[in-house]
Amino acid sequence: MKIGMLGAGDIARGVAKYALEQGHEVLLCNHSGPAKLAPIVTELGPGARAGSRAEVGAAEVVLLAVPWESIRDALTGLPAWNGRILIDATNPFLNPQHLNVLDDLGGRISSEIVADLAPGARLVKAFNTMFATNLAEGPRPRAGTRRVLFVSGDDEAAKTTVTNLIESFGFATIDLGDLKVGGRMQQAKTAPLAGPDFLLPD
Ligand SMILES: NC(=O)c1ccc[n+]([C@@H]2O[C@H](COP(=O)([O-])OP(=O)(O)OC[C@H]3O[C@@H](n4cnc5c(N)ncnc54)[C@H](OP(=O)(O)O)[C@@H]3O)[C@@H](O)[C@H]2O)c1
Repeated sequence: MKIGMLGAGDIARGVAKYALEQGHEVLLCNHSGPAKLAPIVTELGPGARAGSRAEVGAAEVVLLAVPWESIRDALTGLPAWNGRILIDATNPFLNPQHLNVLDDLGGRISSEIVADLAPGARLVKAFNTMFATNLAEGPRPRAGTRRVLFVSGDDEAAKTTVTNLIESFGFATIDLGDLKVGGRMQQAKTAPLAGPDFLLPD
């Protein structure tokens, strides 16, 4: 698959590494431009390349991995989604350096707000629950166990695509259901699943 990364930070790079290992093509963009992006693409190696935000956003699967304050900028003006898959890895922290203040979402789930900014996308919430350090360390911190990534979303086929992708990386997945229920369970801070390092036995 061609996988677009909106963002080229810790989460996007972590996911990109596994996607490349599985033979996928990875396209990345950032906010500050090519000077910062070029070494990241070089380090990721063959199969990775920098693209414009529009090119990244046209991929068949797109990962949103930008700070919460940037979701609108990152998703505005992209090609029509037409059912392409958007993986939402974001958490609604107002200051990513201090994970104690959440945006006031008025009782909504953060991925619902993201979905509103990407009309026509099939959104799957994933990768938001695992610290980037654990993602980078890999799926098997101890023999006989696999790290768990939670997924939720309203489109079963999209969720299957994302689940298969994650499992191909070596991680275990737990499907929490649709966004209304699962998305709320995955929500940072307000639910217990984001942050802890869950392992499943093989
Ligand atoms: N870090 C974690 O442990 C962790 C775990 C789970 C989920 N998350 C969530 O995942 C998201 C990304 O986190 P991160 O740690 O990967 O952040 P990060 O390392 O700070 O990287 C953020 C990336 O987003 C890019 N960016 C900012 N605005 C953009 C825009 N308008 N268009 C395109 N790219 C843009 C930045 O580009 P520049 O570098 O050019 O500014 C940077 O490459 C956040 O919502 C965070 O809450 C983080």
